[in-house]
Amino acid sequence: MTVELQRSTIMTAMAVPPLDLSHHFSYATKNRNISKIKDFYKYFLISNIANFAGGIVHCPRINPPIRMANLMLPGLPHPSYFPYDTLEATVARPQRLHPSNKDNAKSDRVTVPKEVQSSDPARRIDLTTALQYGTAEGYPPLSSFLRAFARDHLHPNVPYKGGPEIILSCGNTDGFSKAIELLTDVWNPDRDWIQQRQGVLCEEFAYMNAIQTARPRGLNVVGVAMDGQGMCAAGKGGLQDVLENWDFRRGRRPHIIYTVTIGQNPTGGTLSIERRKEIYALCQKYDVLIVEDDPYWNLQFPSAYEMEAHYRGATVQQTPYNRNYNAQGRSSGYAFLDSLVPSYLSIDTEGRVIRLDTFSKTIAPGSRLGWITAQPALIERLARITEVTTQQPSGFVQSVVAETLMGEHPNENEARVSKRADGNGWQMDGWVRWLEGLRGGYERRMQSMCTILEENKFLFHQNSEFQDTQSDHVDDWEVVDRVQMYDFVWPKGGMFAWVEVLFDTHPLRSQFSSEKLSKAFWIHLTKKPHLCLVGPGSMFAATPKSAESAHKYIRIAFAPMDAEDVAPFTKRLVEGFRSFWQRKDLDGLDEDDTVVMQNLQSGSAINFMGANC
Ligand SMILES: Cc1ncc(COP(=O)(O)O)c(C=O)c1O
Repeated sequence: MTVELQRSTIMTAMAVPPLDLSHHFSYATKNRNISKIKDFYKYFLISNIANFAGGIVHCPRINPPIRMANLMLPGLPHPSYFPYDTLEATVARPQRLHPSNKDNAKSDRVTVPKEVQSSDPARRIDLTTALQYGTAEGYPPLSSFLRAFARDHLHPNVPYKGGPEIILSCGNTDGFSKAIELLTDVWNPDRDWIQQRQGVLCEEFAYMNAIQTARPRGLNVVGVAMDGQGMCAAGKGGLQDVLENWDFRRGRRPHIIYTVTIGQNPTGGTLSIERRKEIYALCQKYDVLIVEDDPYWNLQFPSAYEMEAHYRGATVQQTPYNRNYNAQGRSSGYAFLDSLVPSYLSIDTEGRVIRLDTFSKTIAPGSRLGWITAQPALIERLARITEVTTQQPSGFVQSVVAETLMGEHPNENEARVSKRADGNGWQMDGWVRWLEGLRGGYERRMQSMCTILEENKFLFHQNSEFQDTQSDHVDDWEVVDRVQMYDFVWPKGGMFAWVEVLFDTHPLRSQFSSEKLSKAFWIHLTKKPHLCLVGPGSMFAATPKSAESAHKYIRIAFAPMDAEDVAPFTKRLVEGFRSFWQRKDLDGLDEDDTVVMQNLQSGSAINFMGANC
């Protein structure tokens, strides 16, 4: 037995079950029963599903297996009336995206056939099952692949006994909405006491879709101070400060954290494992659950540390990325995964973490597909919510993604109904390789953007006092003013750079407030020749308090543009900074939205905002 295996065997033996956190369930969650209809679906999963929709159930548990008439579920349409005979796609090979070299255009055909005969629901990928109603846990082949990925590779060392379970979702927006439904009650000030008001903690600048999920329920949205990594545990406004000094006149002390820990949206920060441990300890002390929304987990950029150090003269110390995080436990089986800052799940001794994963950034946002990972009791309640809301993600998407990842499973009795060129699918190795390739593509974009940002932070201009002086005794360096226009932390992951605009250095600052300059700057950028649309910081302010400083920031996305466009586009943006700093007035910069739209439509505008905020 290897040392590693020995260690992980000991850890497994010592593990304790996750805590019972049912006291945190919402009123509705406590009252949910298994859907009467969905409860029957489990019988179909153990059988040859192809038969039941025709009114017949093949029941292998009865010996000899018999074909039973299915009269229970009249809502199931007959599969011969599904208009699709196959679903076909041309799909990239995992090696298409190179972590460091040139990309490769080769692709393979993927076909989801009408019907496959197989007694193993976890291997059967066909339209007869995928397009039929199914269980809330998700399409069995895909959910079994993702369960293995989550438990064995992405989080091989979840400390509680038995490890986590998963349930498929329609992406992280859906996952968060279900987590909020699971754990919070609606609070209505006209009806309820303030003592009943629940709260959600989040980074002071946050992904607003999540905040807008919580706010209309009357929840207290409570911002926690951030630094370059993400949420602060200690210090003024940090998690400890907020929890310890909670003012109960505002309602209950919040029992949930919503957090984006890798490539935080909007700041690009990545939370170290040390910080996670501090935050987790506070969650244990104050009985808080963590909802970890992690769409960018595979986009972690080791080079950001080196390049930042290179430009700013610091030495590269131990970065979060030059370690093997699984060295003390079970390896993920992949050097790439072992090197990534692990999820909160990796330190979740008590089962307090609900992790949201999405295919939006790894396959496509339009797939509306993802999964939730948490301790089994929480997943069970999420399944009850799913049964009566989304039921499960679209069968079209689930089957195409399952086929892409897993490849074909031949009919047991005959040749496959429809043939495809390769047929092996990406498999786990290919999937991990794809994720690593994506990291390479976005990391190169980040490097291009941030190099230009770094090299153009300063505006140099001749000091007016000396402008007309040609005297020989004044050296050039003495007459040049250097004004810093902005600052930023190199994004250590994700898809954005978060730029602090230093309005205090603007020559017009004595005449205008920084809020006024900020608005004018945003409009200035939308004008010719710049035509740049950037995300104003105010879009990401989670609370009124963070809104006070939000005007100082812009978020610029490097992800949505072609790799070769990133540098010229960023240069155009930097030119926009320079020309704004050279303005003598703000005339024409208080236009309304219609004029801004016209500005942007008047030429080829650059969208630094990204599609989803
Ligand atoms: C932090 C964060 N969470 C969730 C989402 C949306 O995820 P999904 O498409 O899976 O709903 C985004 C998309 O930009 C995001 O940045």
